[in-house]
Amino acid sequence: MKQNETRQPIMKIRHLTKEFKIKSKKLGAKPQILHALNDVSLDVYEGETLGIIGESGCGKSTLGRTVIQLHKATSGSVEYQGQDLFSLAGAERKAMKRDIQMVFQDPYSSLDPRNTCEQIIAEPLKVHGIITDSKARQDRVLELMREVGLDIQHMNRYPHEFSGGQRQRINVARALALQPKIIICDEPVSALDVSIQAQVLNLFNRLQRDHNLTYIFISHDLGVIKHVSDRIAIMYLGRVVELCEASQIYDNPLHPYTRALLSAIPPESPFEKKQRIVLKGEIPSPIGDQVGCPLAGRCPNCTERCTREIPKLKDTGDGHQVACFLYES
Ligand SMILES: Nc1ncnc2c1ncn2[C@@H]1O[C@H](COP(=O)(O)OP(=O)(O)O)[C@@H](O)[C@H]1O
Ligand SMILES: [Mg+2]
Repeated sequence: MKQNETRQPIMKIRHLTKEFKIKSKKLGAKPQILHALNDVSLDVYEGETLGIIGESGCGKSTLGRTVIQLHKATSGSVEYQGQDLFSLAGAERKAMKRDIQMVFQDPYSSLDPRNTCEQIIAEPLKVHGIITDSKARQDRVLELMREVGLDIQHMNRYPHEFSGGQRQRINVARALALQPKIIICDEPVSALDVSIQAQVLNLFNRLQRDHNLTYIFISHDLGVIKHVSDRIAIMYLGRVVELCEASQIYDNPLHPYTRALLSAIPPESPFEKKQRIVLKGEIPSPIGDQVGCPLAGRCPNCTERCTREIPKLKDTGDGHQVACFLYES
């Protein structure tokens, strides 16, 4: 969406950093620092889907969890509708918690197996004291079940009696119950069969249109991310290395990491020539201090400067941002 320049972000993530202390197995040794999320700054615009892509372990879940404060940020801030999220307390904090919901990857473990579908979807309405009358609450639950495509006859069933796709629909209904503004979706279809994935992705699309929802949509699957996103942030080793309109990631990938990621997808036609860019070695460990660009050790374009300095995310024009010295004049 090109009109981003004129729109105000609904959320501003600034320099968000999350470190985990890792206890060493050696007796008396100092704990080591694992840098899961490093200096991430992103704007999120109302009504958009911001896709977050990167390989396993690059910090996608940590980003989502730190934003909704399941993890305490080591440093940095998140501003939501002009308010500093991390300093909210009392009623303001409670309101914020309603506005920002999260849907997780594993649709089973995020549902309490001892509760029925109805109880699960009704719970947030109870906890937040939104509908106190039990009949009215049940009506609302049934309305939510219909909205996400669940059969209302199944309201008294337990999670194990539903399929994976249906369980994820229960999770979505529960998140939707509080009429959130933003939903952080952490790999919400990754545990589902490919045939079911498309149906659940279509559900996310429809709900977004109907409720003007904003999504931060996390996935390691480029096909999924391309399907749902307006803009895409590419992460590597806890950092955002590129940020662009969804179409640009295919038409004009800039960062050497993004190019390598894209070149790994098989070409659509056998006549299309595609050069495979292979990065040397493995993703480095996030434990310990990072010197230079996170990709330096594997990058075909690495220079001496890349081994010393960390490139910042910079705009190359019309909002396409990249963290790479190749694009600095
Ligand atoms: N609670 C935790 N304690 C220690 N390390 C963690 C914790 N959660 C995540 N990590 C580490 O942080 C890094 C990023 O993990 P994560 O955000 O789960 O990546 P992704 O979701 O992209 O696969 C990984 O190296 C992971 O091992
Ligand atoms: Mg994850």
